[in-house]
Amino acid sequence: MSRTVYVNGAFLPEEDATISIFDRGFIFGDGIYEVSAVLGGKLVDCEAHLIRLERSCNEIGLKLAWSRDELIAIHQELITRNKLDEGSIYLQVSRGAADRDFAFPKDIKPSIVLFTQARQFADTPQVKTGIKVVSTLDLRWARRDIKSVNLLGPVLAKQFAAENGAQEAWLVEDGVVTEGASSTAWIVKGKTLISRPLSNKVLPGITRKAVLAFLAESGFTFEEREFTLAEAIDAEEAFITSATSLVMPVTTIDSHSIHNGAPGPATLRLREIYLEHARKGGVLG
Ligand code: PDD
Repeated sequence: MSRTVYVNGAFLPEEDATISIFDRGFIFGDGIYEVSAVLGGKLVDCEAHLIRLERSCNEIGLKLAWSRDELIAIHQELITRNKLDEGSIYLQVSRGAADRDFAFPKDIKPSIVLFTQARQFADTPQVKTGIKVVSTLDLRWARRDIKSVNLLGPVLAKQFAAENGAQEAWLVEDGVVTEGASSTAWIVKGKTLISRPLSNKVLPGITRKAVLAFLAESGFTFEEREFTLAEAIDAEEAFITSATSLVMPVTTIDSHSIHNGAPGPATLRLREIYLEHARKGGVLG
């Protein structure tokens, strides 16, 4: 069935939606994106995603021509028009279309595209088994805090994962896990959750922020520090967070079983609390 998508001011059937071949998102990867979850027809923490979008655009000198309220209204309209109950909404803003030249062209108008993707991720069978991750070298650029559409590093890492029967890749730099190819990486020791500090090396995950917001309620403490691949393999539990996986147990890292190959109680509890909040529209604010 054809979706209704949003392109540069118009809601259109997906077959009729077009972007110029000169669009700098296509030519240079000169653009920013966001992915927001939808659960029970409700947007989850959309405002936090839009705040991150504004920051990313600001960091690359891209002037957003849409207000936060306008963007939320477009998200809502897509949910309604596509009768989306569960899934995600992808938003991409690029610097716009102009003849190819590296430096920013003058008076260029940004392009914007939004589309929905229906998927069942709250009750996915993967939660019962957990996922497998494989480690691979982090080949990305130095500003991973910017959610750039330039995703060749993660694409190659995910392909490597797929070829090895895994659902996610954990990116490793100097022996330390930076993050998942499209998720935040966590390990658990007793009642302590461990994930690395925010910096230019990782994307500041909105789901990460949400998990930390209900830390007291969930009865865990947080140790914000780097961890090595060896420490992760030895951990009691491991999991990932993202707008598309929510909170997902990791039960295999490379060929090593974590928590005897079954999802652990800490991860399952965090997922349960996260879902409870997310179903009401979000955890943050
Ligand atoms: N990816 N780290 C990276 C590199 C990511 O691409 C993502 C999200 C995250 C988690 O961020 P959040 O919790 O805000 O979704 C961390 C999205 C889902 C994607 O690229 O599809």
